[in-house]
Amino acid sequence: MALKIDVVLSVGEVEFAEGEFRLDFSGRLAIVVDVLRATTTITTALANNAHLVIPARDIAQAFELFAQYPQALLCGERNGLIVDGFHLGNSPRDYTAERISGHTLIFSTTNGTRALNLAKGAKLLLLACFNNVSAVAQKALGNLRNIPEEEIIMLCSGKLGRFCIEDAVCCGCLTANLVACCKQISKDIELTEGAKTAVELYNMHKNDLLSLLISCQHGHYLTTLGLLPDLEYASKVNSISTVPVFFNGNISLL
Ligand code: MLT
Repeated sequence: MALKIDVVLSVGEVEFAEGEFRLDFSGRLAIVVDVLRATTTITTALANNAHLVIPARDIAQAFELFAQYPQALLCGERNGLIVDGFHLGNSPRDYTAERISGHTLIFSTTNGTRALNLAKGAKLLLLACFNNVSAVAQKALGNLRNIPEEEIIMLCSGKLGRFCIEDAVCCGCLTANLVACCKQISKDIELTEGAKTAVELYNMHKNDLLSLLISCQHGHYLTTLGLLPDLEYASKVNSISTVPVFFNGNISLL
């Protein structure tokens, strides 16, 4: 059977697709991407030995969870900035081993946690960013035998329901990795229109991902906040080999 790879270019496609185009994650292997910056930051936190990441759908729920887990750190952002009363914002560079090793993190961001919530019915749900693309491709292929449907669905977190190019390019990079691995083992592969589009966008930008991150809408906004180093960090392909997995309401290492 051919492996089908789908890239869902915005969460709006999940929320509004109808009939045969309705997206169903159940029984599938899903991968959520939010390059700027939720999946980049969570991947970094787990690489630096965070114990567990608990995503909170909003700030109120984050504080409720904190009342249950007072030893945890409250983390995340609104409008790219640390939330009043939180310990950490959403800059991956703040998630050093010294700061977070061994800690449980309660994490709420504007778009990343929304996308995770939409895909949570998947049989296996991984988190990806440019930093861990190759590790995610390997883990995804290695775990396919446990997935009833031979299909990988990637979901771009985007911005407030709309398309964001940086997430699409990262999914294109991941798709290109998967295609290369499948070629090596002579496995047939079928790409949806979303996946083909993501690969084309990746091919256009692969030689200068930092410029892409600087010029995209959210990257430009983060730059105005003085966060250019976050974009430099997020543009580094395969700098991390950890793969976060969302299971039973928590994110940990696969
Ligand atoms: C989000 O989930 O919306 C982002 O990670 C926003 C950001 O902090 O850059």
